[in-house]
Amino acid sequence: MHNQFANKAQAWSARFSEPVSDLVKRYTASVNFDQRMARFDIQGSLAHAEMLASIGILSAADLTAIQKGMDRILTEIDEGRFEWSIDLEDVHLNIEKRLVELIGDAGKRLHTGRSRNDQVATDIRLWLRNEIDIAIDLLGQLRTALARLALEQAETILPGFTHLQVAQPVTFGHHLLAYAEMFGRDAERLADCRRRVNRLPLGAAALAGTSYPLDRERVARTLGFDEVCRNSLDAVSDRDFAIEFCSAAALIMMHISRMSEELILWMSPRIGFIQLADRFCTGSSIMPQKKNPDVPELARGKTGRVNGHLIGLLTLMKGQPLAYNKDNQEDKEGLFDAADTVRDTLTIFVDMMSGVKVNAQAMRAAALQGFATATDLADYLVKKGIPFRDAHEIVAHAVRTCEQRQCDLADLSLQELQAFNPLIQDDIFQVLTLEGSVAARSHTGGTAPVRVRAEAQRILDQSAQ
Ligand code: ARG
Repeated sequence: MHNQFANKAQAWSARFSEPVSDLVKRYTASVNFDQRMARFDIQGSLAHAEMLASIGILSAADLTAIQKGMDRILTEIDEGRFEWSIDLEDVHLNIEKRLVELIGDAGKRLHTGRSRNDQVATDIRLWLRNEIDIAIDLLGQLRTALARLALEQAETILPGFTHLQVAQPVTFGHHLLAYAEMFGRDAERLADCRRRVNRLPLGAAALAGTSYPLDRERVARTLGFDEVCRNSLDAVSDRDFAIEFCSAAALIMMHISRMSEELILWMSPRIGFIQLADRFCTGSSIMPQKKNPDVPELARGKTGRVNGHLIGLLTLMKGQPLAYNKDNQEDKEGLFDAADTVRDTLTIFVDMMSGVKVNAQAMRAAALQGFATATDLADYLVKKGIPFRDAHEIVAHAVRTCEQRQCDLADLSLQELQAFNPLIQDDIFQVLTLEGSVAARSHTGGTAPVRVRAEAQRILDQSAQ
């Protein structure tokens, strides 16, 4: 009887008089999805075992056996030879069972002073920390790609829109750098989230802590955690860090989605501002002329699932009393999918944004329509001493005249312009050009080519560090 764990499937069988049905087994098992944390589960177990040995709870021989056994298990997993069994519910029990098979009693001692509750919380944190580091790196690469393109396109002018109506001319480089700002904030958010991910739950055991004199700080150091969780009940039940990550992931995808929306519009033949490389587009099975921007469209669509995971996790947690409840097993699939979606999306976008082909003529032609320099004319009058509100009114009259004549402000002669206000001189034509308009906005945060070049360079310098 005492050898039950080695022989029977379930870790807690002695207490039960009948087995669970196959459906319940499938319903309650998590091994099909949590096995992706195996490497981190082993990493956590090794740190725990090493600490148990350091305080004399495991012998040196047991520790060596555990290390060797885990080494072998990791190889089996890496080589796809490990036999995962849903009879053993989750990644933790599968690995532990195999360890006992390989090394016997030393394997059975590993779980001293530990519970799957603090174990799983530790695994998720280790796994997520790694994903965060990857996502931060990808965001940096995407910013670099945007900054490089911005540097090339510092002088390219397109209409800037408000309400999707032509507003004022902007440089394409400036427009791209707006997204670099968003992705920069996303990286900051992830770095901040990482601080709260990077705390050690082990030592909390099932919920109340443990009667063994564990050295939690030592385990934290071994695993590279900045701190230990300071309340055992909170340590096993907290998933705030996962919610924070999903929230940051949802923001990343929202930014990707906004950018995608623009890429899709710009690629429409009606607009024709850009082309994406063919490898990010697909054709139609029926309409031979089509080249569809599938990647940005799908990215826009995938934003929905990440938003869903955020709401899913918030809802998962809202009704749970302290401490661990089985509900928590539902934290993983959404979290994994959010991280996968962000990782794949960012990886593809780094490549895609590096190869955007720009049609500067189409952009310029669009900027010449819609009186994009009307504000510049008003500002010119203000500089001549006219109050802004009056200047606004004068220009509104001029725009109306142009609309009737179907011409641009710059097409009016000096005499015609002077009819709206006699203070207008022939230096006005410089002001009414697209180049004059953007160049005038050279303050920090402005759209002038000099400023765009400086900002793009600043981002490139940052990423080179
Ligand atoms: N598979 C479980 C999870 O994902 C591990 C912890 C189980 N703990 C327990 N007491 N049933 O959360």
